[in-house]
Amino acid sequence: MFRPRPFALERFFAKHEFSARRLLCSSDCESMSVRELLALEPGSEESLLSLRLGYTETRGAPALREALASRYEGPGADGIFVHAGAEEALLNLFAATLSDGDRVVVATPCYQSLSELPRALGATTLPWHWRIEGGRWILDPDELAPLARGARMIVLNLPHNPTGGTVSPSDFAAIVAVARKEGCILLVDEVYRGLELRETPRLPAVCEAYERGVSLGVFSKNAGLAGLRIGWLASRDRELLDAVAAFKDYNSICSSGPSEVLALVAARNYDILGNRARALCERNLDAFEGFAARHPDFVEWTPPAGGSIAFPRLAAAALGRFGDAGALAERLVSETGILLLPGALYEADAARFRLGFGRADFAEGVAELEEWLGAGSGKGPAVAP
Ligand SMILES: Cc1ncc(COP(=O)(O)O)c(C=O)c1O
Repeated sequence: MFRPRPFALERFFAKHEFSARRLLCSSDCESMSVRELLALEPGSEESLLSLRLGYTETRGAPALREALASRYEGPGADGIFVHAGAEEALLNLFAATLSDGDRVVVATPCYQSLSELPRALGATTLPWHWRIEGGRWILDPDELAPLARGARMIVLNLPHNPTGGTVSPSDFAAIVAVARKEGCILLVDEVYRGLELRETPRLPAVCEAYERGVSLGVFSKNAGLAGLRIGWLASRDRELLDAVAAFKDYNSICSSGPSEVLALVAARNYDILGNRARALCERNLDAFEGFAARHPDFVEWTPPAGGSIAFPRLAAAALGRFGDAGALAERLVSETGILLLPGALYEADAARFRLGFGRADFAEGVAELEEWLGAGSGKGPAVAP
């Protein structure tokens, strides 16, 4: 019976996302109005208004698939498969390819769908652990070969939610070599691709690097258009995409027509949107790093290499003061309306919390957090040891 466990992070957001005043943990970058988006492309307003609201093509509007395909070398428009967000693409892909007893290597911790959907489909998930080495988050490719033996799929997310980690181009090539040796599917969730920070090199998309590679993309993160609910799979493996199509007939069937028109504008202006988000993320990171340097008794900081998320740890003194990141988050949101996301929601170290630095009011939120820490309420009461 396919019954995934509740999505811990979504349940947490369901409680707080639309009531908290300052979201310091969102993964999506600052959004924009429909008007602002349409202004990027002359004539697009008329395309939207004259659209007939019938069903659309299951794999996505041809013009949208062409525009997305132009961003990759290899798959072409036939290798692009549009979905209702990255989330639907994940469900359709896993359901179409995995069954009882399959072995699936999953880089861990992770966005819950990446491990929970394979598990709920009966696969055995084998965690490949992110860890900190030399002051940055790493995945050791030497650990992959034994884990991947006989695997049906390897699941990665680069840049990574929640750590902001990535791998070097040579380690990426080593990962692809392991997948090729095993002949397994290599899914790379690339929803934060394009948000490489501070000169971090951009990796090739896995659909370019590997014939059984599947790239997952979406407009939610660096394009700031989560409400479009438009994501896509890109792959050169046509059989795999055919299997996904057969499953999608039982899911959304096709994407929202108006969203596809807007997504086409976004696809044609992807670099403008992405560069804007990256500049904002880098400015916000500077603000947080200033805060972290002033408050070593509050936070231990490991900088992200990419994406709009980081995964800092509460320092020992802060753990003594607040308990863990879950207790801190509950207290902070109730006293100030500032939202942080507890690391325990990733089944990870409860002293960590997720920071999301893609929003325009992030620096103001950090200033408010700093004020709260310095004022009476943030200072106490200490929890019992
Ligand atoms: C790594 C990762 N994959 C997939 C998704 C799902 O994206 P969407 O909500 O746009 O469907 C998210 C959203 O946070 C994510 O962080």
